[in-house]
Amino acid sequence: MPDLKNTPETQEQHWSDKGGQKWLENIVDFEEMIQPIGRTLLDCAKAKMGENFIDIGCGAGLTTIELGQHVGNTGLVLGIDISQELINESRKRVIAANLNNVSFLAGDAAKIMVPKKFADCLFSRFGVMFFKNPKASFSHLRTSLKPEGRLVFSCWSSLKTNLWMLSVREALEKYVDLPPLEARAPGPFAYAEPDYIREILQAASLKDIEISPWSGKIHVGKSDNTPEDAARFLLKALSVAQAFNDELKSKQDIIKSDLTQKLKQFETSTGLLAPAQAWIVTARI
Ligand SMILES: C[S@@+](CC[C@H](N)C(=O)[O-])C[C@H]1O[C@@H](n2cnc3c(N)ncnc32)[C@H](O)[C@@H]1O
Repeated sequence: MPDLKNTPETQEQHWSDKGGQKWLENIVDFEEMIQPIGRTLLDCAKAKMGENFIDIGCGAGLTTIELGQHVGNTGLVLGIDISQELINESRKRVIAANLNNVSFLAGDAAKIMVPKKFADCLFSRFGVMFFKNPKASFSHLRTSLKPEGRLVFSCWSSLKTNLWMLSVREALEKYVDLPPLEARAPGPFAYAEPDYIREILQAASLKDIEISPWSGKIHVGKSDNTPEDAARFLLKALSVAQAFNDELKSKQDIIKSDLTQKLKQFETSTGLLAPAQAWIVTARI
């Protein structure tokens, strides 16, 4: 019998449970933080009236809804997410947005039955770096593309170019044991290496692969967050900070104050803005 107690949680288990809940609990911080990268991604997706899209790892459906508005009544958008709670929230938002061309499926995008030759474009804002077997997952998702279909997604570049996350790791590492960040392991930084992205997409028979950097500064959570607010958000919401939550209150206070100090370097007259880098990836059948 395997020792289940010591089996590390997979990304699929994480996101379908606590990860999805944390994303939802901190939705305003997360969505404001990645909004500028999402804007570039939506521009790159060039959604046209009448097109069909699939939004992979759609979270609470913000980009799914925006795509629904772009493709209009003659197009369709399907959002897929492994977290049932996020799908429930997405459905509420679609009703509030009064759209009837957007629908959702809860399940693992790597395996879920996708409509064949349905999509003009597979889209994902930071939702495809968690697959256990990326080559098989993209091969599976490719079957949902029309013959001339395309793919566009964003993923984080390296940890060292994302100072908001580097600050969290550095603050934690001084006080708690963090598992080392393994290159290519499923997680936010799985696709840090462009060569690896190319290898995955080529294995899924996708071509014309283009990988461009998005470099800039992003708000650390909500645009009006103080360093204290941002430290609270990051330590509550990021899975890397799980070790923090298991610590004694006295140690937690030290870590929080250390991270708050680190984040002060990002204070500007327009809020807390930290350097970030992501890849904008496009490909087609
Ligand atoms: C970083 S969040 C991004 C959410 C959303 N795309 C956004 O930009 O607001 C990653 C999302 O991917 C989802 N996810 C992770 N692995 C998945 C999988 N195998 N299948 C479907 N969704 C997945 C998570 O539940 C989560 O909602």
